[in-house]
Formats: sequence, C-alpha cells, structure tokens
Amino acid sequence: MNILLLGSGGREHALAWKIAQSKKVDNLFIAPGNGGTGSVGKNVAIKADDFDGIKAFVLEHHVDMVVVGPEDPLVKGIYDYFKNDAQLSAIPVIGPSKQGAVLEGSKEFAKGFMQRHNIPTARYQAFNGEHVQEGLAFLETLQPPYVLKADGLCAGKGVLIVPTLEEAKREFKEMLGGMFGNASATVVIEEFLSGIECSVFVLTDGTHYKILPEAKDYKRIGEGDKGLNTGGMGSVSPVPFADKEWMQKVEDRIIRPTVEGFAAEGIDYKGFIFFGLINVGGDPMVIEYNVRMGDPETESVMLRIKSDLVDLFEGVAQGNLDMKELVFDERAAVCVMLVSGGYPEAYQKGFPITGIDQVEGSIVFHAGTAVKDGTLVTAGGRVIAVSSYGKNKSEALAKSFQEAQKIQFEKKYFRSDIGKDLGE
Ligand code: AMP
Ligand code: GLY
Repeated sequence: MNILLLGSGGREHALAWKIAQSKKVDNLFIAPGNGGTGSVGKNVAIKADDFDGIKAFVLEHHVDMVVVGPEDPLVKGIYDYFKNDAQLSAIPVIGPSKQGAVLEGSKEFAKGFMQRHNIPTARYQAFNGEHVQEGLAFLETLQPPYVLKADGLCAGKGVLIVPTLEEAKREFKEMLGGMFGNASATVVIEEFLSGIECSVFVLTDGTHYKILPEAKDYKRIGEGDKGLNTGGMGSVSPVPFADKEWMQKVEDRIIRPTVEGFAAEGIDYKGFIFFGLINVGGDPMVIEYNVRMGDPETESVMLRIKSDLVDLFEGVAQGNLDMKELVFDERAAVCVMLVSGGYPEAYQKGFPITGIDQVEGSIVFHAGTAVKDGTLVTAGGRVIAVSSYGKNKSEALAKSFQEAQKIQFEKKYFRSDIGKDLGE
C-alpha cells in the first residue's frame, strides 16, 4: 500500500522509520518531511495543513492511508475533510475527527471531558473576560504555585506556573487581555500537582485500544531541569515508576474511561491519544491530553515496538484493533536531542551538519534539518535526535551520549543528564 505521513519533525522521522519497515508498504510519502525523512521515504513539498494540496496528491499517487503526525491538521479537521469528500472517504486517516481533536485544541473542553467521565485531574475552573472577578476569587482559594493555562493551542507556550498570588492575578488578567491572542480568551486556572511526569500513548479505533510503550520527556533546556521550557530535550522508555501496578491504575482510571467517553459522547476517534500524566503519591492524574504522539517521546517509543505499525493502523481503520498484535521490545530506548545554541530563545539556522555518517549503533532522527544546495544544514531549534537501544537505560544513554559527540554543527547543545533522575 501507499502511505502519506504528514509532518516535518523528529516525531515524523521516527514514525516514517517505523512505517518504512512494514512489509505492507510499497511507497511512503512524507509531506513536507525534513532533511532526514527523505532517506526512508519520499518527501513531498506540501504543507501538512494544505488539505486541497493533500487531496490532489493522494488522488494522483493512489495513497491508501494518511497518517497525521502533528496536531494542527487534526484540529483543523483533516479527518472530517476526508470523510466528507466522495473521492476521499474510503481512504483512512489515522488521527481523530475535529471533534476529537478538541481534547488538545481546548483545555477547557479537555477538563470538562475528564470531569464528566471521572478521570483524575487537577481541580480547576475556566474563565473568560466576562468573569474576571470570579477568576480572581478562585485564585484566592488555591495554594501557590498557581497554574494558568490558555484554553487554545499556543505551540506549547500557553501554560504559566506562577509563584505568588499577586503575579497570578496579574498574569491571569494579561492572558485574558490577549497575551496569547485569541488562544487565551478563556483561561483555565487549576490546582498545582506535584510529582514526576510520564507520557502514556494509546492507539485506538474508537472502541478498542492498545497501550504503547510509555516514555518520559525532559522539557527544560538546562541540566537538572532548570531554565526555559522547550519542545523536549530527550526521552527515555520504559519509565521505572510506570510498573505493572501503576499502569493498571492508568488503564482502569484513565485510558478506559477516556475511550468509553468517546463512545458515550459520539466522538469519532481513530488514532493516537497522548496522556500527559503526573504521578501524585502513586496515583496517576492527567495533566493534559494530546491527540498525536509526543516529540521527542516518539523517538524512543518507536524503537520499543516490535510489531508492524501499519498492521496496527489497519486495525484502527477497520475497527478491529483488538485482533492485532502489539509486541514490545524489552530493551530500553532513549533519545538525546541536539539543539541549536540559543534555543528556545533566538538562535541561528543554516549551519552545516557533519559526522552523521560516523554514527554507529544509534539511530539518527532528523528534527530541524534541511538540505540546502546539497548540504545538510540546521533548520530549527531542535535539530537531531540521537536514539539508542540498551539492555537498560544507562547503557542506552551512554550509547546516545557517545554518538552525539560525533555529530557536529556550530553552537550544538544537548543535555547530558537525560534519564539520570530516574535511577536504574
Ligand atoms: P501542558 O501544556 O498542559 O502540558 O503544560 C505544560 C507543563 O506544565 C506540563 O508538562 C507540566 O510540567 C506543567 N503543568 C501543567 N499543569 C500542571 C499542574 N496542574 N500542576 C503542575 N504542573 C503542571
Ligand atoms: N513531548 C511533549 C509533546 O510532544 O507535547
């Protein structure tokens, strides 16, 4: 079959790498892809949210399935675009409907959904500009630090964690006043939860689900989890505290109620669910939903799936995911992200990247790279993910750190403490 994968990050290179291993695939196209995806498939110069361009390509190249990497096309309704088009309706899109994607597109909706289905999450209330006084009063009922979330999509920047009540009140008013444009026209205020985070991924056909390997990502730029938030500086899988007992709680209290919630609310959802969880005294609670895979978690998680991912996608499309097999690789997998100096603030692009051909035994996933006049150059903040297997986490990390040294570009930076907070 012919598959079109949408997106252009490290997540998409890892998905493409895994999809390309399937015996079921004749041609893999990636739109728009990056400097690395072209080595496992064919890059096509179409933006991931150019639905009409995607339609023309799908029809011309006889694409049999579309796999969506990022949230943007999902929130804009690519699933529904295909479903409602007579020429496209038979072609499955792996990703939720527009209605399902609201779980990521609106934090207020996500919190309401969790509340309706008794899914454990932080206590909260949502306010718009007509309820400023009520919002300020709600803040007074909470303990510091204060968590303020823009309702809509803000490219990962819409959450503020503020130490004092005065600052929280000021930021709350500024958010409503347009700090994140329309995305913060509604603000969710919630209780702060303290614990270690873990990302749990599920593939669902809307009725059945398969739980994929879990992972932990490292969001801060600095070692010891200091400094600004980034898209993610590395990831490890498995996560030691996500043992059988904890994952059973996750399944019983969070995953099953979520999938049953889709059915109960008539939400058409055939794709990945990303549960951003926090472990509060041994009990998992939901910080957020995403309607796609995580980045850089995918760059570890894909290594730990032994089964044919395309076979699983067929189960999603056909509604018989329960008949499919999902086997994990028992080894540990990690990824260390090489980023541009200055990121997540201003940084330069266009530096030549060398040494990838020297890497042995690790898997190099490109994130922000491009080929310019035949030379591979940096083209983003997160540039390259160096992913490795090991019999345990330490061995996998040692491998990634060793191979990361071989890849060079000006002002390269990476965190050399990824995974080190988790013990063996
Ligand atoms: P989000 O965009 O919802 O993933 O939030 C970004 C980050 O803020 C999360 O990964 C957490 O580290 C943190 N965060 C969000 N909500 C809470 C909360 N209620 N308590 C503690 N930390 C939170
Ligand atoms: N790694 C977090 C995310 O993909 O949103």
